[in-house]
Amino acid sequence: MADLDQIREAKQYHADVPVQTRPFFLKGANALDWGMQNRFSRIFDPTTGRTVMLAIDHGYFMGPTTGLERIDLNIVPLLPYCDALMLTRGVLRSTIPSTFGRGVVLRASGGPSILKELSNEQIAVDIEDAIRLNVAALAVQIFIGGEYETQSVHNMTRLVDLGNRYGIPIFAVTAVGKQMTRDAQYFRLACRICAELGAQFIKTYYVADGFDTVAASCPVPLVMAGGKKLPELDALTMAYNAVDQGAAGVDMGRNIFQADAPAAMLQAVRAVVHQKMPPKQALELYETLKREQGR
Ligand code: R5P
Repeated sequence: MADLDQIREAKQYHADVPVQTRPFFLKGANALDWGMQNRFSRIFDPTTGRTVMLAIDHGYFMGPTTGLERIDLNIVPLLPYCDALMLTRGVLRSTIPSTFGRGVVLRASGGPSILKELSNEQIAVDIEDAIRLNVAALAVQIFIGGEYETQSVHNMTRLVDLGNRYGIPIFAVTAVGKQMTRDAQYFRLACRICAELGAQFIKTYYVADGFDTVAASCPVPLVMAGGKKLPELDALTMAYNAVDQGAAGVDMGRNIFQADAPAAMLQAVRAVVHQKMPPKQALELYETLKREQGR
């Protein structure tokens, strides 16, 4: 009964101070449940509202691609510099230390390898396993205009239903088929379809002409995809332009882990995304860190 003995009479209700309702910092995310917002806060930095995701999920259809031959040696040292990590459950369980405290974005679709029709994916993770792994989001590939377009959209909508049930955001990854034109008109179409059908955030490619219209017409956050390896200045410029034109960050793989100095490149990309550092200055930062880390 100690509690009853200790009751204080002079309670402070601050009745004159209105309770503040703070809007959530991400576009389109105000109506999401607390758990989903909390998971988003493990992916996006609440102070800048942006993210630098490191994508290392390529092995799920490409095998051990260049730079990902030894994830324990090549990727684990990079973990302190990313806001979130996009990968498969196999690599997560086998290789990533469970002390990793930022967002895990788990690859949830798969099936065909590079030897087959890539759009023929199915859901490849049980929602219970995603919960067991304490993931911050699930990623699913969408092939608008691809051979298995409808199947890929249905993979996404089924995951959206499961994610809504358990508070896990779904990350729709707009894949570009071999026949597709990579222009703003296509990405406006693909991103809008993903958002309309419930994806809470979307990964899409940068286009030099009209990326701002892709971002503006999408009611949820867009994260820029990296794509094939570019010279460092070009990759930093692309990241800068995407963020400047409305992206809420980047999800880059090969442009990080195939760089001469991956840790330096990831830190330079961070400076671009979170501080809006101009690309040439970010390249200087990259060169400096590369020299220092090479010692
Ligand atoms: C692609 O379709 C996957 O999402 C990737 O495996 C990966 O995320 C691509 O990253 P990047 O193009 O930056 O190497």
